[in-house]
Amino acid sequence: DHEPAIARLLARMTPAEKFGQLQQLAWGWNTGPGGPGSETVEAAARAGRVGSVLNLAGAEQANALQRVAVEESRLGIPLVFGLDVIHGYWTTFPIPLAQAAAFDPDVAETDGAVSAREARADGIHWAFSPMVDLTRDPRWGRIAEGHGEDPYLTARYAQAKVRGYQGRSLADPDRVAACAKHFVAYGGAEGGRDYNTVDVSEHRLRDLYLPPFLAAVEAGAATVMAAFNTVNGVPAHANTHTLTEVLKGEWGFDGVVVSDWAAVAELVAHGHAADGADAARLALAAGTDVEMASTTVVEHGEDLLARGLISEQRLDDAVARVLRLKFRLGLFDRPYTDPDAVIGEPTPAARAAARTAAARCLVLLRNSPAVLPLSPTAATVAVVGPFAGSTDLLGTWVLGETQRRFPAGTVHDALRAALPDTTVLHADGIPESVAAALAADVTVVVVGEPSDLSGEAATRSELTLPGDQEDLIAAVAATGRPYAVVLIGGRPLTGAWLDTAPAVLLAWHPGIEGHHAIADVLTGAVNPGGKLPVTFPRTVGQVPIYYNRENTGRPYDPEHPDNPFVSAYLDLPDGPRFPFGHGCSYTTFTVGGPTLTPTAVTADALRAGATVEVTVAVHNTGDRAGDEVVQLYVRDRVASIVQPVRRLRGFRRVPLAAGESTEVRFTLSADDLGFWTGDPTGRFVVEPGEVDVVTGATSTTTTASTLTIG
Ligand code: IFM
Repeated sequence: DHEPAIARLLARMTPAEKFGQLQQLAWGWNTGPGGPGSETVEAAARAGRVGSVLNLAGAEQANALQRVAVEESRLGIPLVFGLDVIHGYWTTFPIPLAQAAAFDPDVAETDGAVSAREARADGIHWAFSPMVDLTRDPRWGRIAEGHGEDPYLTARYAQAKVRGYQGRSLADPDRVAACAKHFVAYGGAEGGRDYNTVDVSEHRLRDLYLPPFLAAVEAGAATVMAAFNTVNGVPAHANTHTLTEVLKGEWGFDGVVVSDWAAVAELVAHGHAADGADAARLALAAGTDVEMASTTVVEHGEDLLARGLISEQRLDDAVARVLRLKFRLGLFDRPYTDPDAVIGEPTPAARAAARTAAARCLVLLRNSPAVLPLSPTAATVAVVGPFAGSTDLLGTWVLGETQRRFPAGTVHDALRAALPDTTVLHADGIPESVAAALAADVTVVVVGEPSDLSGEAATRSELTLPGDQEDLIAAVAATGRPYAVVLIGGRPLTGAWLDTAPAVLLAWHPGIEGHHAIADVLTGAVNPGGKLPVTFPRTVGQVPIYYNRENTGRPYDPEHPDNPFVSAYLDLPDGPRFPFGHGCSYTTFTVGGPTLTPTAVTADALRAGATVEVTVAVHNTGDRAGDEVVQLYVRDRVASIVQPVRRLRGFRRVPLAAGESTEVRFTLSADDLGFWTGDPTGRFVVEPGEVDVVTGATSTTTTASTLTIG
């Protein structure tokens, strides 16, 4: 129990030292606009005017600065070093959106554990991750950093990543503190424009955006980062409802709320605070504990305190949270990083884990006629396109040093290594690619979106392939020779070619070993089993389009396609290009309907803890081993708050040998069958009525059984 030690320390601190603990300063390089830079950080550490530092990496550098704080400041309180370790440190795993496509949260747990080991050994105590903002807008560049559009899937990944980072104890030398971000509803930014306004009903806030954060907090996430956006008119950094009432109040979160980069000062630009002092007051009062990069709290705090505009109690609470984090990390006992224990590069085991992870994330969007896997008898394979020879496979948020020292290889090289007895031709430009396609038995066209087109502030208004890549695909298609497309990228992309290419393998930004994973799947060494964690629209004009929509009073009716008075677009067929949950395989599966036990239950019983067991049969009907993701959705047909036509409430990725079958079991509880009302104090209800329980291998499945809630 660290609380007595925290109280003793607080009693010795001056107000200036307390405010110092609430300051986080940037070292060296900036991940936001401007920033004070390293020269001021050392002086602040000596004066006890900084509690944590971001963007400083390397055991020696970290130790040198730590020594100033521990040995030269009056109280010797150690610093915490934080960094954007998002999907790897030295060993870059697939981007989080890709990891979600694995429908296997163990992928995120492994990433978290490998990243934690490498980062902590290099002086980092705190990863600003997982990003658990769900979004329905692929224009938003930060879709790459999250886990797609679904709250349930995102929540499972949030838990797993927190477990991976934090393990059993933050004091372990191979663990880091996690940071669930960005609280909250950041992914709801209007128009997908980064940092933009979010206006969201209370019931959607609680049913969609909050559950992944709750899952992270329940898994023990030590910290939470506030979001840049407003939530219903009040910037998230000054939002008492979300930060204090929900996060710290209802959920009992006792960790640190850190601001995003300069976002406290930005309360002025938002039009919410009059000046820096006002911003400091509003953010602290609402529940922001630590200010990243801007310095309003440390500058104005003492004056605000003296004038009674900040309460001593809130100040002490915020400082206690920072000290608690430091105690949990064991920094008072072991402030320094052992320079002899540095892991300076990806280990073979870490690389192997990244390769397995990447292969699990790949989604076979189509394969008809079956061009893939590449025929073992193909004498010549052409691999063409701008990403065939590119190492730009790591994705957003990768340290500059990692990019330089540990890039991915190329798909071309990986295919050559995987097919030693095949002639592998390589070309980039369109005429050269056409010539290669004509000379080959089969062509792999590797196209996509560079890493810097997704991530923070990387919003796009179009979702098409950049440059002349569509022309390249069309030119290869016009040869009449068989071809497959490998699609690289950080978001769903659009293009008519997605309907006509015989085979499309979605590889995302697959990380350091991604080229090998792609080759593994192209050659059939690995059978793809990923599924889409996000809807692929036909065109950008359909955005937002997502599977867990409400029905409207005039839904499109496939039985009456000519009825004009429906909620639809005149110039597009109904529905997305590829739905949430979609993904093909080199084998075939059947997923049966759900068997419910019991088929009726009362709402009272559910509230008291009763559950419903759901069993589903799954059968590999093909002639190859492969994985199927069995998906379970519910629909509450009649509810006081209109419920989505489908809500994912269970999934299991099942490996099956050729011809093998098995039974998958799920448990539904009140959590799965109820919903939040719009009551701001939070009211979760389970209403009587009929619920469709739907199972299958994609979100458009219709095999259902009815559960009656009495
Ligand atoms: O952690 C990030 C955040 O996700 C976006 N703005 C900058 C922060 C620190 O680099």
